[in-house]
Amino acid sequence: MLKIAVLVSGGGTNLQAIIDAIEKKELTNTQIALVISNKKDAYALTRAAEHGIKSCCISPKDYADRADYDQAMIDAIRGSGAELVVLAGFLVVLSARFVDAFSHRIINIHPSLIPSFCGDGFYGLRVHEAALKRGVKITGATVHFVDSGTDTGPIIMQKAVEVQDGDTPEILQRRVMEQAEWKLLPAVIQAIADGRVLIG
Ligand code: GRF
Repeated sequence: MLKIAVLVSGGGTNLQAIIDAIEKKELTNTQIALVISNKKDAYALTRAAEHGIKSCCISPKDYADRADYDQAMIDAIRGSGAELVVLAGFLVVLSARFVDAFSHRIINIHPSLIPSFCGDGFYGLRVHEAALKRGVKITGATVHFVDSGTDTGPIIMQKAVEVQDGDTPEILQRRVMEQAEWKLLPAVIQAIADGRVLIG
């Protein structure tokens, strides 16, 4: 059984996709051991509570310095027994110390086909605004391992999504979520749970 910790900051639609896949038995051999948000009002925490999943809020603002925050996060994740950390709309920039503590065991979902529209400053709607501004006809989502950079770790899986005439950033974001993100994340977690993902 793969135990995962899911880190969230907002609405939690990607968390919900994982919860739904497990409950529908489309995602097997996997258990959400803990959900951690840096925002106490994140609706993702409500989603976890509604499904009886242990959750907590650990915010950098509640710690004297970054090292104390990192240690609190590391302790909470290790204490949950999680072997994989899933960043699902998590907006805190991870420190090298945190990444090293879970080397090659952190994955992130990014709402573009990396290496396009990623890196510092590319998150949420900004990603889709940039894609529309550039005029790409195909965008999508990427799940990758997290390393010390921003959206620079080894790519695990990607899924393409068509850009349509008249798309606004909001319409495109929703299509990328529905057609790519919410399918990719459970699929990658299943592959890791099944031992089908190797680090090249
Ligand atoms: C999504 O666009 C996701 O790609 C990005 O954060 C946004 C919010 O995700 N990582 P969620 O609804 O909180 O899962």
